[in-house]
Amino acid sequence: MKYVLPLTHPLLSTENVSITLSGLKILDDVSIGVPQGTVTGLIGPNGAGKTTVFNIMSGFLTPDEGNVRFDGKKLKHIKTHHLTKMGISRTLQGVGLFESLTALENVMLGGSARVKSGIVADSLGMPWADSEQNKLRSQAMETLAEFGIADIADRYPGELPYPVQKRVAIARSLISDPKVLLLDEPAGGISASDMAELGRMIKSWTPKRTVLLVEHHMELVMEVCDLIWVLDAGKVIASGSPEEVRTNPAVLAAYLGEEVSH
Ligand SMILES: Nc1ncnc2c1ncn2[C@@H]1O[C@H](COP(=O)(O)OP(=O)(O)OP(=O)(O)O)[C@@H](O)[C@H]1O
Ligand SMILES: [Mg+2]
Repeated sequence: MKYVLPLTHPLLSTENVSITLSGLKILDDVSIGVPQGTVTGLIGPNGAGKTTVFNIMSGFLTPDEGNVRFDGKKLKHIKTHHLTKMGISRTLQGVGLFESLTALENVMLGGSARVKSGIVADSLGMPWADSEQNKLRSQAMETLAEFGIADIADRYPGELPYPVQKRVAIARSLISDPKVLLLDEPAGGISASDMAELGRMIKSWTPKRTVLLVEHHMELVMEVCDLIWVLDAGKVIASGSPEEVRTNPAVLAAYLGEEVSH
């Protein structure tokens, strides 16, 4: 996917976003954009502010200054439960699955904004022989099958190995058929072969879907990203193609003393 900086019409962007939390300026005038149909990377050392950008893009936090724009429109006071309807889906750093729901129910939850009755009602044993719900259930099964884990549909997260839990979490974010996926360290704690598979999978979602990827594994970032933004201590210090970013002295300096791949 081609992009040219500065971006003209990114699908998702932050415009001059700043935020102070507990008296600390965590993001300082951050403007990043995600062009439609690309895998765009957001990288930077630990504590740079990457997850905070995701939290602002998905309405968990409101910036003190600046805007988030999606599909040309300013997003004001985004309600997190409206995100799915708007076409934005995110995974949480770590796994973020509900321990008391099965893998299948967790995946269904990702699509439940579309159905009237809630998955939580189901887990409480409330009656809801709803055809939409059955459709959601079979979609969730299909999604698990796509990820090669249909066999663990009825298992609880705590019973599953970490890499399988990560797959369930990504399946949950995909079932809502989002326009944009925000992936926060999807490769954390998974093996090299699982990572190669994940890279292929992410690439295969584009250009239909657009991805913003936060990741510390540089080999994955460099392989799958069309465009990369680099944050350090709450500021954008570089942007460009993987090759431009890889050789940028400011980026190399920011990572000095950091273990890049962990
Ligand atoms: N609610 C909060 N109150 C105070 N400080 C916070 C809060 N949330 C995050 N921070 C701080 O903001 C900074 C950026 O955090 P953030 O989680 O966005 O970094 P990150 O780039 O995602 O790091 P990592 O690579 O370790 O996940 C860190 O110094 C963190 O301690
Ligand atoms: Mg983070």
